[in-house]
Amino acid sequence: MTQQENTPLLDVRSVTMAFGGIVAVRDLSFTVTKGEILALMGPNGAGKTTTFNLIAGALLPTSGQIFFDGRDITQTKPDARCKAGIARTFQITQPFDELTVVENVMVATMPYHSSMSQMRKDARRYVQMVGLAERADVMAKGLSTGQRKRLELARAMATRPKLLLMDEVTGGVDQKSIPGLLDLVKSLRDEGQTLIIIEHNMRVINELSDRAIFMNRGARMVEGTPHEVAGHPQVVDLYLGEGGGHA
Ligand SMILES: Nc1ncnc2c1ncn2[C@@H]1O[C@H](COP(=O)(O)OP(=O)(O)OP(=O)(O)O)[C@@H](O)[C@H]1O
Ligand SMILES: [Mg+2]
Repeated sequence: MTQQENTPLLDVRSVTMAFGGIVAVRDLSFTVTKGEILALMGPNGAGKTTTFNLIAGALLPTSGQIFFDGRDITQTKPDARCKAGIARTFQITQPFDELTVVENVMVATMPYHSSMSQMRKDARRYVQMVGLAERADVMAKGLSTGQRKRLELARAMATRPKLLLMDEVTGGVDQKSIPGLLDLVKSLRDEGQTLIIIEHNMRVINELSDRAIFMNRGARMVEGTPHEVAGHPQVVDLYLGEGGGHA
């Protein structure tokens, strides 16, 4: 490997995020290399979504630094991080309800095209990829939860990110839609897309990710292969202690 290939795409260094007395993320450090799929795991309130907010720039950390593609982005605004190549999906989906599915995705393809027809064509391609072609011209408010998750994914993919953050893409989705979503993420992985996924579904984590970090109370508790993490005594204790967890 060359030196450049060794440089992590994302480098989170000792990041802490405190909301008053609540320390949502505590001295968290990790890196992600190009083409890797990292799973962030942990019980409710562990700090997973907050970590995404810090990477995407919705929150500025209380302390610590974040490097992306070799640049310090700790204080960079969210739109500049998006331009730099960081995209995310939201745990609670946030489409423009009064726009159609295609129009929602067009917003994301805008920077790449000078004409509306090009934008629309490109957007339709992403809508098709996520399996929403039949709903392409329906207003986003008419979508089911699973379809909204797919739209989120299409919007994030359409920005052609270097790093894609997926917050519980399978959460709240009906069981029969999960294999399709899994296949979609696998095809992204096969194209070399770098991903961080927040997931509670252990099967999804096992099938998709190269490495997993288990967070608890804002801090990294265990790191390893999905198999190692799932079998770690502390992880087993925590999930069993929660009544079986979410797997
Ligand atoms: N904006 C905020 N203001 C105050 N507290 C917050 C804020 N955002 C998150 N928190 C708190 O930080 C902690 C971590 O929350 P976070 O949403 O990151 O957890 P999570 O791991 O994503 O959990 P879940 O699995 O339920 O989605 C929680 O105690 C939460 O209440
Ligand atoms: Mg969350």
